[in-house]
Amino acid sequence: MNILLTGGAGYIGSHTAVVLVEAGHNVIILDNLCNSELASIKKIEEIICRKISFINGDIRDIGLLESLFKQHQIEAVIHFAGLKAVGESFTIPLEYYDNNLIGSISLFKAMDICNVKKLIFSSSATVYGAPLYLPVDEKHPMSPMSPYGRTKLQIEEALSDLISPKKEWKIVSLRYFNPVGAHNSGMLGEKPRGIPNNLMPFISQVTSRKLKILKVYGNDYATIDGTGVRDYIHVMDLAEGHLNALLYLNGMSGIEKFNLGTGRGYSVLEVISAYQEASGKKVPYQIDSRRTGDVAAIYASCDRANSILKWCAKRSLLEMCQSSWVFENSNS
Ligand code: NAD
Ligand code: WQD
Repeated sequence: MNILLTGGAGYIGSHTAVVLVEAGHNVIILDNLCNSELASIKKIEEIICRKISFINGDIRDIGLLESLFKQHQIEAVIHFAGLKAVGESFTIPLEYYDNNLIGSISLFKAMDICNVKKLIFSSSATVYGAPLYLPVDEKHPMSPMSPYGRTKLQIEEALSDLISPKKEWKIVSLRYFNPVGAHNSGMLGEKPRGIPNNLMPFISQVTSRKLKILKVYGNDYATIDGTGVRDYIHVMDLAEGHLNALLYLNGMSGIEKFNLGTGRGYSVLEVISAYQEASGKKVPYQIDSRRTGDVAAIYASCDRANSILKWCAKRSLLEMCQSSWVFENSNS
């Protein structure tokens, strides 16, 4: 199938591109490189041993979208493109609404005009907000706590409205939990610009001594050891989830939403300990105060994805840390 990956030069998109090509699909990437580099396209090509079509452009450019849908005979879109930093979204909210929401609407309009009606959307666990119960299933009420999270919810709402008059659309929205880790070649992985906001890339850079010390945000939560608990998922498991979703798209209509996680949570101290085991190095850390907006624990129920998409995350926390460490060492 000819599949357009918006944001395919980024962290999750690049891993998914590899998985799709290895499964026999033809991948076309559209990315404006606002949070990625051309080098990641070269690395994808090196891993899959062939060239891919890359267009340096923006999802808000409807004319460009229409022409590339026609030129490449696109049959389905996986929509990764967007801004994703929760903290930043409080500082520049309009950029988030413009890029994520307006950008998505422009993409859906172009798809509709060009009769491309199969879509997988990168949503996020952040749409749920503070959990009322655990594990969080797809019926959990949605109450995002940031402008970023609200853009994800509003895009899902726009898609639900879209399918009401347009029954021929087939849409899967995937709500990712905490993607971490890297491709086992060490060539692709998460490369945040500046100081990382998220736990795993921060730990990697502390372990390689690029950063001095990890601050653990709070050890007085009602969790196993007092530190925050999250559902970390290996990026390759996540990438494979898109392949299952693609297969499922063919036989469905309307919109379906699925959590993608492992179904189990790990605390910050458990992640540190796994990273130490994976790297054979000490991860220097100190306990700090809680980070505003953090919840004590959140992890997914993945029963829907298991039974309907026939997908299950397979890789362990140790494998997540090992691949992250290999990537850190290959890209310093
Ligand atoms: P990323 O920043 O690495 O990748 C996103 C890509 O989109 C980047 O390459 C960026 O250059 C591109 N992009 C941004 N705006 C664009 C635009 N207007 N036009 C064209 N390209 C544009 O992020 P990621 O971690 O790979 O995330 C992919 C998707 O998954 C995002 O939508 C994100 O919100 C969602 N998501 C990510 C996480 C996570 O923790 N990484 C969790 C849940 C959901
Ligand atoms: C994990 C745990 C922190 C950094 C965010 C977004 C979410 C999603 C994934 C896109 C928490 C603790 C962290 C540090 C720490 N992205 N921590 N020291 O907050 O669960 O989710 O990324 O959709 O929307 O909110 O992930 O990696 O930032 O934090 O102690 O330096 O690590 O308090 O308990 P989070 P995270």
